[in-house]
Amino acid sequence: MADMKLGVFDSGLGGLLIAKAIEDNRPDIDMVYLGDTLHVPYGKRSKDAIYDYSRHAIDYLFSEKDCQIVLTACNTVSAAALRTLQQTYLPDAYPDRRILGVVVPTLEEAISSGYKNIGIIATEYIVESDIYAAELKKLDPSFTIHQQATPLLVPLIENNGLKWVKPILEDYLEPLLAAQVECLILGCTHYPHLMPVLRDILGDQFPILSQVDIIPYKLNDYLQRHPVFDEKIGKNGTKEYLVTDITRGYKETALSIYNKEIEIQHVKP
Ligand code: DGL
Repeated sequence: MADMKLGVFDSGLGGLLIAKAIEDNRPDIDMVYLGDTLHVPYGKRSKDAIYDYSRHAIDYLFSEKDCQIVLTACNTVSAAALRTLQQTYLPDAYPDRRILGVVVPTLEEAISSGYKNIGIIATEYIVESDIYAAELKKLDPSFTIHQQATPLLVPLIENNGLKWVKPILEDYLEPLLAAQVECLILGCTHYPHLMPVLRDILGDQFPILSQVDIIPYKLNDYLQRHPVFDEKIGKNGTKEYLVTDITRGYKETALSIYNKEIEIQHVKP
């Protein structure tokens, strides 16, 4: 039987940061990345649209790319569509496959680090959905979370605007620091790009929880606990990078994340 693959799905190219971190951690795993660049940003779409786009893309990864597991690197998909995909779509369409998200593993990391008073910056959609607060309550209600919507950050990052970001970020962080949060979750695929500015504002010691650090080892942990799935995923180190729309800007973004040219293919799921 042919080897299956690990799929990594994001609304755009922000998730490549997580894909690269997974590759650095597990170069052997056969992986397919799919960024829905035709419809990015998902954060400004309706719940129905996010569900339809992500179900379509994930269906492609299962049916055309034979993925055993699809990790949705996108926080917005994790908030808007993950539960329905897992509970309604998957049991009918692909009962033996899995879809994983990023919200619960990120919160588990914050809890195991012992930070009782958690801060998070995220897109407006994530904050309004209240997904982080709801999941935290289920995991451990003795923890609290302070959420700050940061809608200007994705457009600034996507438009090469990091030089303008510091005063905006300082303003966004003010209520969280006033609430004396003990750590900061970066609740969006794009935010690891802000690390130098965040360090400048918060200092070297402030705990910043980035999904780039958390997700690769949480994925490894998941694979170890589920050897039946792990065994099906090929370990030949093959990689494919797919997008639903391609521009020169996307190639430059990929180059800046990987520090080398990677071949990006345009697909029409
Ligand atoms: N990937 C999205 C997330 O993590 C950010 C960009 C978007 O809104 O699509 O929320």
